[in-house]
Amino acid sequence: MRKIALSTMTALLFLLSGCVEKEKSFVQVEHNHAVSENENTKNQDKQINNQKSSNDSEQKLTNGKQNSDDATKNNGSVPVVSNPASITVMVNKSHALPKEYRANDLVRPKVKFVFGNEKLEKALMRTEAASALEKMFEKAASEGIHLFAASGYRSYETQDYLFKREIDKVGREKAEQAVAYPGTSEHQTGLAMDISAPSVNYTITEKLENKEEGKWLAEHAHEYGFILRYPKGKEEITKYKFEPWHFRYVGKKIASEIYEKGITLEEYFEEVKGI
Ligand code: DAL
Ligand code: ZN
Repeated sequence: MRKIALSTMTALLFLLSGCVEKEKSFVQVEHNHAVSENENTKNQDKQINNQKSSNDSEQKLTNGKQNSDDATKNNGSVPVVSNPASITVMVNKSHALPKEYRANDLVRPKVKFVFGNEKLEKALMRTEAASALEKMFEKAASEGIHLFAASGYRSYETQDYLFKREIDKVGREKAEQAVAYPGTSEHQTGLAMDISAPSVNYTITEKLENKEEGKWLAEHAHEYGFILRYPKGKEEITKYKFEPWHFRYVGKKIASEIYEKGITLEEYFEEVKGI
């Protein structure tokens, strides 16, 4: 009887130790995944069903000021903002998002895309921005201007892939003027959309500036809460080349003020800070 009890206990202990081993290897797999993130070059157009949850706590701006004072270092040496989920968050070469940040309200706007109905990560935007984009595209269409969305949300990993690809294509100096370092792209906020049109053959090109669609966007985007984020002549401030296709949602009030004053988001926050 005692023998049976002993062997049962041994068997139980053996089973338990197996569980612990399994748990360890699970943790290891997760860890390996995290380590290999930078090496992932195949996820540019990740399917939507691979969504992770995220910290989307709406952190308030004080007087519209950016809050990177208590920033921890991430993404190289760029300070990380503490308000990644704010509609007015400033993300640029000196304000990064937390690497893992992914808004929890990403949706696919009901607009036409240059890639048709494919379910791609880049079709996503945050809810408020998506709804504003729909209104903007509808109004444009009612005036005979047909806009097509090309690229919205991008994860850190996708941006990493695009940044490295651009360096391979044109070298680091030029790449940095056109593509954001991973963690510093507005596309990761889910508030930006690159827009194209039939007149430029559905591509992303500077030629959009002089086409009717590009002109319409430059003149009307603010009415829907969007700003032309990287304007011509402001390269020294934004640190990026002119991008007539990149529109960033900030809400109607700030977008209109930025439009009326002919300033950038950086200058807007400088002014707000100056009050
Ligand atoms: N092209 C813009 C700057 C980006 O990569 O986010
Ligand atoms: Zn863009």
